[in-house]
Amino acid sequence: MARSKTRVFSCCALILVCVVVIIVCISVFRRHKCPEGTFSNVAVAADSGTCSKIGRDMLRKGGSAVDGAIAALLCTSIINPQSMGLGGGAIFTVMDSSGNVKIINSRETVPENVKPGLLEVCPKTFQLISGSQWIAVPGEVRGYEQAHKLYGKLPWATLFQPAIKLARKGFPIPPIQGRYLSYIDSNETKALRDFYTDKNGKLMKIGDIVKFEKLADTLETIANQGPEAFYTGKIAEDLIHDIKEAGGTLTVQDLASYKATVTDAWVIPIGEYQMYIPPPPAGGIILSFILNVMKGYNLTSTDLIGEKKTLLYHRLIEAFKFSNGLKKYIRDPGFSSEKMAKTITEESFANHIRSLISDNQTHARRYYNSTPYLDSMGTTHLSVIAKDGSAVSVTSTVNHIFGSKIMSPSTGVILNNQLSDFCGREDTIFPGQHPPSSMAPTVLKSKSKTLVLGSTGGNMITIGMVSALMNHIWFGKSLKEAIDAPILYVNPQNLVGFEPNFDENVIEALEAMGHKQRILSRFYNVVNAAEMEDGCICAESDARKQGEAAGY
Ligand SMILES: *[C@@H]1O[C@H](CO)[C@@H](O)[C@H](O)[C@H]1NC(C)=O
Ligand SMILES: *[C@@H]1O[C@H](CO)[C@@H](O)[C@H](O)[C@H]1NC(C)=O
Ligand SMILES: *[C@@H]1O[C@H](CO)[C@@H](O)[C@H](O)[C@H]1NC(C)=O
Repeated sequence: MARSKTRVFSCCALILVCVVVIIVCISVFRRHKCPEGTFSNVAVAADSGTCSKIGRDMLRKGGSAVDGAIAALLCTSIINPQSMGLGGGAIFTVMDSSGNVKIINSRETVPENVKPGLLEVCPKTFQLISGSQWIAVPGEVRGYEQAHKLYGKLPWATLFQPAIKLARKGFPIPPIQGRYLSYIDSNETKALRDFYTDKNGKLMKIGDIVKFEKLADTLETIANQGPEAFYTGKIAEDLIHDIKEAGGTLTVQDLASYKATVTDAWVIPIGEYQMYIPPPPAGGIILSFILNVMKGYNLTSTDLIGEKKTLLYHRLIEAFKFSNGLKKYIRDPGFSSEKMAKTITEESFANHIRSLISDNQTHARRYYNSTPYLDSMGTTHLSVIAKDGSAVSVTSTVNHIFGSKIMSPSTGVILNNQLSDFCGREDTIFPGQHPPSSMAPTVLKSKSKTLVLGSTGGNMITIGMVSALMNHIWFGKSLKEAIDAPILYVNPQNLVGFEPNFDENVIEALEAMGHKQRILSRFYNVVNAAEMEDGCICAESDARKQGEAAGY
């Protein structure tokens, strides 16, 4: 009797043990089995496959999300030097594994001896502005330094090795870099022009081998001696010498006194998400304003059907027309009050503006209280997610295509033209001030998801991000479909441009409502994003720039 009881008991115990083992196995197996096309460890979405892979490999070596981001940015300064580089600036939004988010602002600043009356020669309509007078104090390397100090795991020098190798060895000019070589034309750009001239005296083209040898030396020095080399060392001296030769006013003191800043992100509730945005001088407030206005329409995928689709885009255009009047509140918080910028991100403000949007008509420009300003373009964005859930969203730029088009011959650094971002925004500027930006590297976090997203393309940044976010989080499109969807763009004069493939019926209906169309030859929006859900990571780089994400 006692023995059979024992047998029954041990039988039950055995079955119980088996069941537990099976459950554990299934859950472990499930956790490691991510859907096809997603990654179970890390992902990097840069605007080229080459740099996404370099970032990924840093993470594979045990690097943090920030390590991967810095290595991928250094790579991008060579693969897309027309977009960003050591002579520019960046804004980082970094989430650590416990969900704390910091903003590192290494955007350029106004130099001490800025040319008096500079803003009086701002062009009245958008054009590429080159020349040494527009060069602001580069912040890029101080940004890397600060990010690495706070979040780096690998040695600083390790992050530079792939870019140094790539720069020294050379590579065929990729299509996107090659597309912009024709922008290098005038005498002002002599060093850059010489750099891209082949031995027959001709401007190089796609597929020609380009080597960034001077830049490789510069990168190597910064790798070995640290960021000080760029700001106070030999590179600083050479850089200032070359800028002076080109007629610029930057001094060694400007470089020596440059500081990147670390602040908290601003947090905006968007549905199930908390959205972390960089405050001014970055453009996060306009992004959150538009999303807050649209949020109140309780959008679902049925809003993409029939007449509702026209109404959706009408409301979106109206929100953008209002946002054109609000951009003037993106100002360096060190030089003006943040009060209005804060107000713009509030739900009550969005509710008020929504009440001013008429569903049946559009209005004359004065209705939106907007003042015209200049368009801008260029830039790169990078989204990284690591296995521990930490994430980096970073946007970096030299401003326009090849920035000021001034290349420092002795260092190989291409300098920004960031001071032109003050055009139409400020009448007077002060040393140390950051120009306003549309850049809005963002991280969204819900209970089960982390979504890292940003865009490039100057004023098209906001619509690129809004479009991708609406399509993904409200209309249920995949990250890829959400990024691929054609966008519309409302310019500073409130004229509306539509990307090729935009729904013709909607365009017609919007014109019938009074929206004025402006045909645009090019759309610069490039959204690169990554999302983690249940331990699996999806990453997408925008096909518009032939981007490609990487992960493992
Ligand atoms: C460039 O400089 C050369 C020599 O100084 C001059 O002859 C030429 O007209 C200049 N070209 C432009 C586009 O300014
Ligand atoms: C959206 O939903 C909220 C809450 O249910 C409701 O108060 C509001 O009227 C709705 N807005 C629209 C435009 O339907
Ligand atoms: C739109 O609706 C408002 C309020 O219902 C009305 O006053 C206005 O005349 C309408 N406009 C057009 C163009 O139909």
